[in-house]
Amino acid sequence: MAKILTVTNQKGGVGKTTTCVNLAASLAATKKRVMLIDLDPQGNATMGSGVDKHSLERSSYELLTGQATAAESRLTETPAGYHLIGANGDLTAAEVELLSLSRREFRLKMALEEVADEYDFILLDNPPSLNLLTVNALASSSGVIIPMQCEYYALEGISALVGTINKINQRLNPELQIEGILRTMFDPRMSLTRDVSSHLVEYFGDKVYRTVIPRNVRLAEAPSHGLPALLYDKSSRGALAYLALAGELIRKSADAGKHPADENSAHTGDADDDVAQGPEAVAGDSNEASKKSADVDADAEVVKEVN
Ligand SMILES: Nc1ncnc2c1ncn2[C@@H]1O[C@H](COP(=O)(O)OP(=O)(O)OP(=O)(O)O)[C@@H](O)[C@H]1O
Ligand SMILES: [Mg+2]
Repeated sequence: MAKILTVTNQKGGVGKTTTCVNLAASLAATKKRVMLIDLDPQGNATMGSGVDKHSLERSSYELLTGQATAAESRLTETPAGYHLIGANGDLTAAEVELLSLSRREFRLKMALEEVADEYDFILLDNPPSLNLLTVNALASSSGVIIPMQCEYYALEGISALVGTINKINQRLNPELQIEGILRTMFDPRMSLTRDVSSHLVEYFGDKVYRTVIPRNVRLAEAPSHGLPALLYDKSSRGALAYLALAGELIRKSADAGKHPADENSAHTGDADDDVAQGPEAVAGDSNEASKKSADVDADAEVVKEVN
């Protein structure tokens, strides 16, 4: 059964799409069966996966409105080997159309049931907003990955997001949790970056991924070639960091599935075994100071305090 993960942050330009495309490629490179679903009418994840958004026969619009099944909507050949359900401007109509459909918050969840067994991971890329499309994504997922840029306004808006996750958790999807907070476009030379980063670790504890994604020009260039960084320049710091993130995600998922009695034998080392740790995937700053995993409610309280 696939682990379905929503990548979201209503703040624009924080690296949601870059994370979806590069994480999907990295997971696929480690032989995981992966599908990426673009839920943003901008269609950036579609283009970044090497698919022309204007030439889609079927897309997440048809999927959400029930005009096509997941098996009919997906493209099974992308350069990096993951499956893709693309998006384009058509998707803007979906939100309005969904309003008149029954179980409108669960359209995506219902549509994915048919194919969930075929994948290890399904990643959902979202627009920079909290709307009915995002609610559909959250209602389908077991975890939320929140990319954040470590800058002054980073925490602004996160309380709204955590509040939304809490509400969805209580009303629509009791499984939903914060899977991880991902520090993106990280520049360790900036003291502001380091300050915001340590605040995040203080408040979210080990929900903050140890892997950090550096600011890296290859990550910015790769989409214009329709490629994930791993295929564009596989030794770039950006590509290596996303490989490390994939390793961390796989290891966390495996640990979460273990019986508590297995805890002592659980992997506790710093580096990932199965993938190279990117040079910037240091995050040595993170877990020393980290507290035990905070649950979603605690996160919400903490965030309220921050604001
Ligand atoms: N680690 C990075 N280093 C350098 N550039 C990056 C990095 N991550 C993302 N970018 C660039 O920053 C811009 C915004 O990234 P991206 O599109 O992934 O953000 P987003 O959160 O999906 O944006 P939106 O909210 O518009 O959907 C893009 O031009 C992308 O190429
Ligand atoms: Mg995006």
